[in-house]
Amino acid sequence: MARPRVLSGIQPTADSFHLGNYLGAVRQWVTMQETHDAFYCVVDLHAITVPTEPDALRRRSRVAAAQLFAAGLDPERSTVFVQSHVREHTELAWVLICLTGMGEAGRMTQFKDKSAKFGESAASVGLFTYPILQAADILLYQANLVPVGADQKQHLELTRDLGQRFNHRFGDTFTLPDPYILKEVEKITDLQDPTAKMSKSSSSPAGILDVLEQPGPLRKKVMRAVTDTGSEVLFDEAGKPGISNLLRIQSALTGTPIPELVARYEGQGYGTFKKDVAEAVEQTFAPIRERTEKLLADEKELDRMLAIGAERASAVAKETMAQVRDRVGFLPKL
Ligand code: TRP
Repeated sequence: MARPRVLSGIQPTADSFHLGNYLGAVRQWVTMQETHDAFYCVVDLHAITVPTEPDALRRRSRVAAAQLFAAGLDPERSTVFVQSHVREHTELAWVLICLTGMGEAGRMTQFKDKSAKFGESAASVGLFTYPILQAADILLYQANLVPVGADQKQHLELTRDLGQRFNHRFGDTFTLPDPYILKEVEKITDLQDPTAKMSKSSSSPAGILDVLEQPGPLRKKVMRAVTDTGSEVLFDEAGKPGISNLLRIQSALTGTPIPELVARYEGQGYGTFKKDVAEAVEQTFAPIRERTEKLLADEKELDRMLAIGAERASAVAKETMAQVRDRVGFLPKL
């Protein structure tokens, strides 16, 4: 039997992925390429739903792609591509937009959160239709599984609803995907505010560990991470959110279960523990940073790798879209 297909996407909205992106998404994508027919997409069309400077978008799209390859996505096994290279995403999105109710789209909580930042009437219509474009990304490839964080559950439900609606109205066309909610290591929190998620949009620079950051600043940030009163390294989410976050990070990076770490640092205080966390972060990020720099130094080669991905993605997208056009009733173009 063919391998189940996965599809996921990541926005090119930063100059580096951070530890939360890496543990919560990228690292698990790399694992999934072993067992799945994997499609991973740098979603630049989604990035422009909020005001974006063209040079920054170009740079960040390449940086995102380079980091995906550097983190271990193998272009032989995974189809890594840029969303805007495959025109069918926008084409299918339009068809799905026409199947979506205003009320249905208006219930999306991520839109409500994001638009609140701009003031609801200043938010773009693109931001409003963001989840429908995401549905198109997924349905276009007939994906079985979509690895995402828990915050994307609602978008996955919309995707299934729209796929089902299309199938019902126009005949069976789309595979209905299941969400694959990524493991709770995604609960990496802000180093300076350990009760809030580590997030590009809300954390201060001192609270974020960037994959492409130099070892010096990385170490400093870990050493300066907010810790809790007391001096014992214990896992206690409510009473010691800072130390608990560092324990989660250390455990995720070294594969050592948290209880084992707690036992190891008994009687040693925070300093030794933090030094080891910093070490684990550096050791994980250094090779990724070096490979990313190498890939970015040869833009032509990177663009060529992405062209190969786009070609493979296009082959699938074209096939789905041909069916969609026919079923909707668009005339064939002779
Ligand atoms: N909305 C997703 C996020 O913010 C990114 C995304 C866009 C995506 N298209 C997708 C994820 C398709 C999975 C599948 O994380």
